Amino acid sequence: MIATPSNKKQNRLPKILEHASGYKRFQILEAHMKKHQFKQEALIEVLHKAQELFGYLEDDLLLFVAYKLKLPASRVYGVATFYHFFTLKPQGRHTCVVCMGTACYVRGADKLLAAIQEKAGIKPGETTPDSELSLLTARCIGACGIAPAVVYDGAVTPRQTPETALQRLEGWISHGH
Ligand code: FES
Repeated sequence: MIATPSNKKQNRLPKILEHASGYKRFQILEAHMKKHQFKQEALIEVLHKAQELFGYLEDDLLLFVAYKLKLPASRVYGVATFYHFFTLKPQGRHTCVVCMGTACYVRGADKLLAAIQEKAGIKPGETTPDSELSLLTARCIGACGIAPAVVYDGAVTPRQTPETALQRLEGWISHGH
């Protein structure tokens, strides 16, 4: 069965667009769509870019893409759920996306990720057994100037170290290993 957004979610569109206008990652995504002249055939390519930027595809993001490419939301959801290489919003109560793009990597993102993995006892793409935390990675979240960056529950956070990351995650992974 193909998941489709409820009407209630679709009604959120004006809010999503307003919110998106202030966010660099949405701006980068929009520039990417523009490069493809907002062509509907670029949908898969655009979703790849979205996943690179956000780590996973959440409802607001899919509605944003649907609106910009003038596609029915059901089609965008259909594609996002059909291909195994797309990750929809993970089930954890909290999400932590570690940017593993070049700028973040050279500033120690791998050490950050290793520390989080060890503490939480999960790998990227997984959720802790108590459903508190889902861990993900992204390729470049458009915040290279503040590398290494981590996104905690949607908030891009600058210059993380294993210590600051574990501190931030305290409570979310208190039942981890
Ligand atoms: S590489 Fe991490 S924000 Fe660009």
